[in-house]
Amino acid sequence: MLSLSPQDDSSPAPRPQRIAVIPGDGIGPEVARAAAGVVLAAAERFGARLELEWLPLGADHYLKTGETLTDEMFAHLRDDCDAIFFGAMGDARVPDMRHARDVLLGLRFRLDLYVNLRPVKLLHPALTPLKGRGAGDLDFVIFRENTEDVYVGMGGNFKRDTLDEVAINEMLHTRKGVERIIRAAFEWAVANGKRRVCMSDKANVLQFSHGLWQRVFKLVAAEYPQVESRHLYADVLAMEMVRAPQDFDVIVTTNMFGDILSDLGAELVGGLGLAASANLYPGRVSLFEPVHGSAPALAGKDVANPFGMILTGALMLNALGHPAAGAAVERAVVECLAAGEATADLGGPLGTQAAGEAVARRVRAER
Ligand code: NAD
Ligand code: IPM
Ligand code: MN
Repeated sequence: MLSLSPQDDSSPAPRPQRIAVIPGDGIGPEVARAAAGVVLAAAERFGARLELEWLPLGADHYLKTGETLTDEMFAHLRDDCDAIFFGAMGDARVPDMRHARDVLLGLRFRLDLYVNLRPVKLLHPALTPLKGRGAGDLDFVIFRENTEDVYVGMGGNFKRDTLDEVAINEMLHTRKGVERIIRAAFEWAVANGKRRVCMSDKANVLQFSHGLWQRVFKLVAAEYPQVESRHLYADVLAMEMVRAPQDFDVIVTTNMFGDILSDLGAELVGGLGLAASANLYPGRVSLFEPVHGSAPALAGKDVANPFGMILTGALMLNALGHPAAGAAVERAVVECLAAGEATADLGGPLGTQAAGEAVARRVRAER
């Protein structure tokens, strides 16, 4: 179970839960359409009342209107929606990624979605590039801090475009920010019967900011004596994830390292096309997006793998209080993988929509 705040499956909601779907750019709309079909099929099968609202935010909208995330839209997402289901953003026509920074990073910051939970789980033995590894060896989650670090966008260019140019991006860490993500990682470990939490930083270089991570990690770890705590520098962690992935249950790390390590983790279990993620503030409206980006070269061809977004839908169903539906979606993906019902990146014969429909069909057939 991946929800941090599971609700009771049996208590009927007074109104349908509203999911804002932001398909975004590139392959975003294609994987969002396929995944929405699966989420709705699971909702119907398990009696969850969901309402999807499709929002056109993305590069096209920005280029047409100059708008990225207006205050009104932000208030609507915060106040009227139960979850945000996000495809991907990134478009060559917006080289500075202004719209993606405003919308995706804007939502992470403004909704204070401090947990970026990224599972790394092998769903079929043939999918790992690691020799001699099986399902039991690859099953951990990355808790990526999601509101601080170099992502805050503080900095600037001095004497820009001259030979004397100076460029600065500040790395920001707060006691509150570090403590809450580390605590979330331990809480999740305890709630899910996991034994080990590994914190990763580069405190050997970043003595001030990652020194804070070290001190806070020791303090919080002491509150969870039943959980084994361990520290690895991020460079060594990258190596250990490949050498001995079975040694990890929960990895907690900074925003930037979590970004990089989660792509590495994805590749260990089948690639970016399969990787899911949840941006959470437990108990509040949260944002669910696959780990991958807009993959412009694949866009519009019905070839992108929708499973990452579909598994992201499973995380969303869990968080919305429908764990049976979430589990059914994950099972259906596992069954499709076993049956070879998958897209070309996984060696399968199906297009994006057909792969989504194959999962939906299995979800509908769940007994
Ligand atoms: P990417 O994730 O889009 O693609 C990386 C590689 O993975 C490519 O080879 C791509 O073809 C492949 N890939 C990704 N998703 C796939 C899928 N569903 N099925 C099959 N193959 C898939 O990363 P990139 O190329 O570095 O970035 C493209 C754009 O997306 C950039 O503008 C980037 O900033 C943006 N981006 C957005 C997000 C997001 O919206 N959350 C995440 C990462 C990158
Ligand atoms: C991700 C992406 C984003 C990030 C980009 C698009 C801002 O790579 O969600 O992993 O760096 O967080
Ligand atoms: Mn990334």
